[in-house]
Amino acid sequence: MNLDCLRIQGGKPLYGRITISGAKNSALALIVGAALGEEPVVLENIPDNTDVHVIFDLLREVGVTVQSLDKGKWSVDGSTLNSSKASYELARKLRASFYLAGLLLAKRHEAVVPLPGGCFLGPRPVDFHLKGFQAFGAEVAIEHGCMIGKITKPQGTRFFINRSSMGTTVNLLYLAVLTPGTTILENAAKEPEIVDLAVMLNCMGAKIRGAGTDVIRVQGVKSLHGTDYSIIPDRIEAGTYMAMVAATGGDVTLENVMSEHIRATITKLREVGAEIEEGETSVRIQMEGRPKATDIETAPYPGFPTDMQQPIGALLVSADGTSVIRETVYESRFNYLNELVRMGADVRFERDRAIIKGIERLSGAPVEAFDLRAGAAMVLAGLSAEGETVVSQVDRIDRGYEKIEEKLTAVGAVICRESV
Ligand code: UD1
Repeated sequence: MNLDCLRIQGGKPLYGRITISGAKNSALALIVGAALGEEPVVLENIPDNTDVHVIFDLLREVGVTVQSLDKGKWSVDGSTLNSSKASYELARKLRASFYLAGLLLAKRHEAVVPLPGGCFLGPRPVDFHLKGFQAFGAEVAIEHGCMIGKITKPQGTRFFINRSSMGTTVNLLYLAVLTPGTTILENAAKEPEIVDLAVMLNCMGAKIRGAGTDVIRVQGVKSLHGTDYSIIPDRIEAGTYMAMVAATGGDVTLENVMSEHIRATITKLREVGAEIEEGETSVRIQMEGRPKATDIETAPYPGFPTDMQQPIGALLVSADGTSVIRETVYESRFNYLNELVRMGADVRFERDRAIIKGIERLSGAPVEAFDLRAGAAMVLAGLSAEGETVVSQVDRIDRGYEKIEEKLTAVGAVICRESV
């Protein structure tokens, strides 16, 4: 087991440049989507984080040929797929393991996939996925912790997704592209990662229109071929480093960013007092003085992303004034604020709201990364605090941030990884 921790000496402003990696959530959806093809798909800008390596292992387990070609460049060949069963040991590690359900139903017309794991953010059911599979004609059952699905005569369908859901939209797109006839997905997720998936699948010969809106139309095709494709930059990683600069002060330029994907985050960071300049593929953030309080309400894209709620919450605990955060996507995404109380944060909760009374300065303390984004929030708090902070359970941060301590050291942070 990885028992690394991050030791941080807080209070240093950040100056310099950080290159943002490829988007984790795009990579997970596109790597599995690439396996729908009958020829190798070459993917570029794939981040080097542990979630990506788990999804590669899950694919290898069902026979897909996965090869590393160069830094961030991987080949995925779905023509060798030869099993319909994913293992619990791997599936329990991440939510996106459930993407194998759509892949296997689409290509092998049967799937045995354990219910997924991933960050605990409150209940994370898969009922929308299952109802969607059934709409295509699949028979699905949950037995002994696994989804067992079979589809004898897949049929294009019109399906309304109950609530905007990234994962459901991904899984149903996999099935729709190889199912005869027309499929219309209504109330589909509009995240940039969905658009990225649709563009890659179209490069493989799929016929998808409307991705990025809430109605996606798909004309099924018999098979998909290979392509070369570079995935979009990680909007949550970019937002996290921007929030860190807003917390510590300084002047940092982020490279490999699509600023239109982080509009909601940029708006909030300007409200707290940051100066932000948007370039073609970069964003510069400058910050002086203490952040100002602001209110946040999470929502599906293009609203304020729930994945940015924790890093921004960690910034607001030392803002000037009182901030209110309303979390509408997940019910248990405020645990990290209790951990920040160890560092002096003043927080109270009212139903789905956290009310944060900003304090002048956090004081460094040992804290735990409860989950991926909560971990990023702890690092942000440590960077802005007075004194030393030690963040434990760093393996949770490594799931989605590539070399976080190296990127931060390069801009002047005093942070190092230690094995316990
Ligand atoms: C994805 C992201 C995650 C992000 C989340 C919301 C990946 C790998 N993960 O997760 O980082 O926090 O979107 O932006 O891309 N729901 C149901 N039933 C279902 C499916 C979802 O009730 O069958 C609910 C969820 O509990 C949640 C909401 O719908 O409240 C949105 O979830 P969804 O968009 O599906 O999240 P994920 O795809 O799991």
